[in-house]
Amino acid sequence: MDRLVIRGGRRIEGSVQVRGAKNAALPQIAAALLSFERLELGNVPEVTDVDTMLALMGEFGMVATRGSGRALALDAREARNAVAPYDMVRRMRASILVLAPLLTRFGSARVSMPGGCAIGARPIDLHLKALDALGAEIDIEAGYIQARTKNGGLRGGRVVLTTPSVGATETALMAATLARGETEILNAARDPEVCDLALCLTAMGAHIQGAGTHRMLVQGVDALHNARHDLLTDRIEAGTYAVAAAITGGNLEILGAHLEHLGSVGAVLESTGTQIWPTDRGLMVVRSGPLQAIDVVTEPYPGFPTDLQAQFMALMTIASGASVIRETVYESRFMHVPELGRLGANISLQGSTALVRGVERLHGAEVMATDLRASVSLVLAALVAEGETTINRVYHLDRGYESLDRKLVQCGADIRRVAE
Ligand code: UD1
Repeated sequence: MDRLVIRGGRRIEGSVQVRGAKNAALPQIAAALLSFERLELGNVPEVTDVDTMLALMGEFGMVATRGSGRALALDAREARNAVAPYDMVRRMRASILVLAPLLTRFGSARVSMPGGCAIGARPIDLHLKALDALGAEIDIEAGYIQARTKNGGLRGGRVVLTTPSVGATETALMAATLARGETEILNAARDPEVCDLALCLTAMGAHIQGAGTHRMLVQGVDALHNARHDLLTDRIEAGTYAVAAAITGGNLEILGAHLEHLGSVGAVLESTGTQIWPTDRGLMVVRSGPLQAIDVVTEPYPGFPTDLQAQFMALMTIASGASVIRETVYESRFMHVPELGRLGANISLQGSTALVRGVERLHGAEVMATDLRASVSLVLAALVAEGETTINRVYHLDRGYESLDRKLVQCGADIRRVAE
């Protein structure tokens, strides 16, 4: 298990390239199971969650070949139905995304209940309700979801999501592409990654309308065909580098990032006294003046993303004033709070709300990474902490960030990766 040793006090400057979105890659890899022809994805990030998804796909006989420039060819011609075992699924919650493609392709599926980051209850009821609305029969036995289709396959239906779950929208979308007739998905998630899945499925021959709105309509087709699709870039990776520039009073061009994908994040950063504007190649982020505390509430897209809450909290630890950060998507996503406290942050927690009182400075300490975004918030805080910070268990970081430490070093950070 590697750890990172970071000496704080350097500005983040220059430029950094963001890659394809992990959260776009995972459902699209699963979607390759829907087709008897090849799916070629471009801009696939080299992160361990993608490796985990490919290992899971290997269980079903999908052949994945990485090409140059982050290309990934997926061939599910010889796919077979198999169990998605606990041992693999527990490593990553997004494994649940294989359920709909397996059920569609084979008429039955057996998938372990998922694990993943320990950030709240994270049920999967909406995924199961979506499949139920398309005519699937579902049982849960001994920690496994057992799903089957009746009367020769799924049929179109009306899926109403009580909350705009990203994963459940993707499950409904994948299942609907080959269901007989029309499917309506109401209160659909509007996230750019959902739109990107819709684009990929459309390139494969699916008929989808309304991606990016609350109401999606899918006309089922008989089969999907070969396709090529480049993943959109990772807005959470981009937002993380934006905070790295903001927290260090730096000056960074984030190549490949799109302001419009960041939803409310751009405006929130501006309110902290950080300038952010689009360039020909991405986004420019500069902070030269003081850092102001502001309040934030996480919400479904286009609201402030829960996946940037921890990073933003790190930023607020050294802002002037106090910031109230309320988490409405994953109520207990605060594992970073005690660790930021070890670096000298002044944060008090009350239920799903954190009060961050800005301090003059943070100081280096030994801390532990606990989940993907919590880990990266510790890296960001360490960039400005006086002295040396050691972050243990950085494998969480590698799940979703391609070469984070190397990229930050190229922008001026002092970071060493030490193998334990
Ligand atoms: C996706 C992202 C994750 C991000 C999250 C919210 C992927 C691979 N992961 O996760 O990085 O933090 O969106 O933007 O894309 N819920 C239910 N029942 C369900 C499903 C979800 O109650 O069946 C609840 C969850 O507990 C949570 C909320 O809905 O409170 C949003 O979850 P959801 O959008 O489904 O997140 P994921 O798709 O798991």
